[in-house]
This record gives sequence, structure tokens and C-alpha cells, in this order.
Amino acid sequence: MSTLAALTNHQIRLKARPNGLPTRDGWDFTTEPVNEPAEGGVLVKTLAISLDPAMRGWMNEGKSYIPPVAIGEVMRAGGIGEVIASKNDAFKVGDVVSCTPGVQEYILIPADQIKRNGLFKIDTRLGTPTQWLNVLGMPGMTAYFGLLDVGMPQPGETVVVSGAAGAVGQTVGQLAKIKGCRVVGIAGGPKKCEWVVKELGFDACIDYKAGDLKSALRDACPKGVDVYFDNVGGDILDTVMTRLARKARIVICGAISQYNNTTPVKGPANYLSLLVNRARMEGMVVFDYTDRFPIAVAELAGYLKDGRMKSKEDVVVGLNTFPETLLKLFNGENFGKLVLQFA
Ligand SMILES: NC(=O)c1ccc[n+]([C@@H]2O[C@H](COP(=O)([O-])OP(=O)(O)OC[C@H]3O[C@@H](n4cnc5c(N)ncnc54)[C@H](OP(=O)(O)O)[C@@H]3O)[C@@H](O)[C@H]2O)c1
Repeated sequence: MSTLAALTNHQIRLKARPNGLPTRDGWDFTTEPVNEPAEGGVLVKTLAISLDPAMRGWMNEGKSYIPPVAIGEVMRAGGIGEVIASKNDAFKVGDVVSCTPGVQEYILIPADQIKRNGLFKIDTRLGTPTQWLNVLGMPGMTAYFGLLDVGMPQPGETVVVSGAAGAVGQTVGQLAKIKGCRVVGIAGGPKKCEWVVKELGFDACIDYKAGDLKSALRDACPKGVDVYFDNVGGDILDTVMTRLARKARIVICGAISQYNNTTPVKGPANYLSLLVNRARMEGMVVFDYTDRFPIAVAELAGYLKDGRMKSKEDVVVGLNTFPETLLKLFNGENFGKLVLQFA
């Protein structure tokens, strides 16, 4: 009998589409035997998965930039794993890889998926596996291309980023500082704001939960906002729109304040500020930039190495905590990139 036959794959599947915040009873906890890979494929043991706000959108019915997770399907998640069996010459047992394992302990990756770039070896000399889920992974790529390609910051300009202590936000702000900008974060609570300024070197950080965001923005951005990197949408986006500088750029990266709405998404009432200030607002999806990921990884890994950039992850252990751990993103309990590590 193969040693793999002694293994059991614990999985979490989508049982029902949530209305509002997802709850534990909306998930199914299943087990399956672990099988050998087919010719050209590999078997990966999941080390850690990335918990992302986008997962909430994938649970909804309907068209988006990626198909929804089907009812009964293992919940989709990006992650890092170790190859434990291989029938593909490009991957050997022990390789640490980046893939989309889903919320499960083992994943068989067939040859055709590998051909479609579904599996990458990661270089652990450039960063730890959890950093490969953060600055060197999808959130870092989002920050890099969203800020540089869409936001196009110039030295001396003022960049404001919401969700500043989160995964995408921490890299946006640090990168904007490296590019010579004045950087103002927006985050929930004094602890996150203090960290963003003292540890990450932002020029200022506004605690939006303390109230009067508008006057705090006026004080922190006396010349107006040249680039607003928006991770949260809703009232914060609307308020930042009142402070735009001429020719400002708003990067629509996400709108986490709206993802669990049971009422329609709240759009910006102050959008005529775009007209008055000859400004623009543009959406971005990180997957449009996959061809250029290696360029961004090389640059960001350089900053990690020379100490100009920090990478903070919030690591929770245990597959079974997934339903509650995911909610940390929506109540602001995560401090840094939220990662779920499997034992
Ligand atoms: N377009 C793309 O390709 C792409 C790719 C990756 C991520 N994203 C988007 O980027 C955003 C950030 O993702 P992330 O992975 O970096 O998450 P994250 O910032 O690490 O975690 C989410 C944070 O959002 C804040 N938040 C939650 N509810 C909020 C509300 N009602 N109002 C204001 N802030 C709220 C919380 O921070 P506080 O404690 O500060 O409130 C929470 O910690 C999300 O909108 C995500 O969907 C987009």
C-alpha cells in the first residue's frame, strides 16, 4: 500500500451562499482519501492559505472577474504548499510552491493545470512562505501594479491609502514612500495607526473610527490628495473625494466596507469632484499583471532585503478555524496579512 493511502484530506466546502456575513453553518467539513498524482501531475501538501476579502465575493452567485465557487465545491484559496509526490520533471518532492490549493490539506494538480501556470516554485531565499502570501504574493502584486500602473504617483505627491495596516495597504504605503511621496494611511484604531507611522514610516495615519475623517484629511493633506488607493469604498471613499487635488487618480482596488451588504452597494455621492478636479477613478484586477509579476517580485524582494520594506503577517493556525478566522477581515481584527496555517 502507498504511504499516501494512509493520509486523509480534510476540506471545507461551500454549503450555502451567505446573506451578509458568512457563518459556520454555511460550510461543510468533509474528508477524502489522498491519491497519487496522474502522469505529469503533482500532489501538494498545503502549508498555509491566504485569507482574502475577495473570498466573500467568490461566495456570491453571479458574474465577476472570476467564476463563483459552486455550492459543494472546496472553497477557493491561494496558498503555499510542499510537493509530496511528483510525476512531473519540473517539480520534485520537497519543492515549496505557490498555487490555489483551496481550503484543504492536500491538492492534486494535474498536468494541464501546471501548463496553465497553476503552479510556481517559490524561492524561499527571497522571503519566508508567509511573505510569499503577502509582499511577494498576490497582495504585494496588487499594491505594486495598482499604485505604480494605475495610481502613477510622482515624487512629492500626496498618496492616501485606506486599509493601511492590511495586506495590500502596508505595501502600497511603503512603496509610495520609497518612490518619494508623502503618504497618509487610513486605518481602524490607534494601535494600527501608530504601527503604520512608527514601523512603516508613513507620514501620518488617520483613525477613521475616531470620527471626523474630513477634517483629519484636511490637516494631513494640506495640498490635497493626488493619489487615493481605495481598499474600502463606502463613506471613506466618498469623504476622500472631497479632498482631491487637480488631476488626482483614484485606484479602485476594493470596497471591503460593502462586501457583506444586504442592501445595494453605496456609491460615491461626491463624484462630481472628479469633474471639478479633472480627476479620474480606475478599477484594477491584479490577475491582469501576471506576466510582469517577476519584475515586481524582484523589486519588492530587494526592498525586503535592504530593510526598506517590512512585511507583517497575522498567522492563525488550524484549518477548522477557517469560518471564524475569515471574519477577522471584515471586523478589522486582522493586523497585517491574514494567513491560515495548517499545523
Ligand atoms: N483588485 C484586486 O485585484 C485586489 C487584489 C487583492 C485585494 N483587493 C482588495 O483590497 C482590499 C484589501 O485587501 P487585503 O487583503 O489587503 O485585506 P486587509 O486590508 O488585510 O484586511 C481587511 C481590512 O479591511 C478593513 N475593513 C474591514 N471592514 C471595513 C469597513 N467597513 N470600513 C473600513 N475598513 C474596513 C479592516 O481594517 P481596519 O481595522 O483598518 O478597519 C480589515 O483589517 C480589499 O477590498 C480587497 O478586496 C483587490
